[in-house]
Amino acid sequence: MKILVINGPNLNMLGIREPAIYGAQNYATLCEMINAHAAEKNVEVKIFQSNHEGSVVDEIQAAYQKFDGIVINPAAYTHTSVAILDALKAVGLPAVEVHISDVSKREDFRQISYAGMACEKSYIGLGFDGYLRAIDYLIDKYA
Ligand code: DQA
Repeated sequence: MKILVINGPNLNMLGIREPAIYGAQNYATLCEMINAHAAEKNVEVKIFQSNHEGSVVDEIQAAYQKFDGIVINPAAYTHTSVAILDALKAVGLPAVEVHISDVSKREDFRQISYAGMACEKSYIGLGFDGYLRAIDYLIDKYA
């Protein structure tokens, strides 16, 4: 089983950016946690991060017929990007949305999730653990 994990803009700044909201652990630690979890569960994982909307769209399109599912934290593009929503719909892969912070308790502009409209499930406000739960959701789906 192959899972693609996509992270949007500024998530490469984890550990530096707003630690009171996103925590003190950095992006490398997040990647290590995801890789270790995938290895333990015997699934293949690719982790991709970009600060560019079009690159996220390209990566989703490239996953077509190559991956079994997508875990995505589109970061700020969550709340703005119809292009990412359309790409997820286009490839038709089971997708799971993750947000490190509890966006439901934050600003009004974070209350809409376009990408979430193409996702089967959302893990919100669970910190890095949300990614692991999202991977487990996809594993269980195919079990
Ligand atoms: C985020 C929440 C978004 O609103 C924000 O723009 C991010 C990170 C999260 O993981 O909590 O960059 O997706």
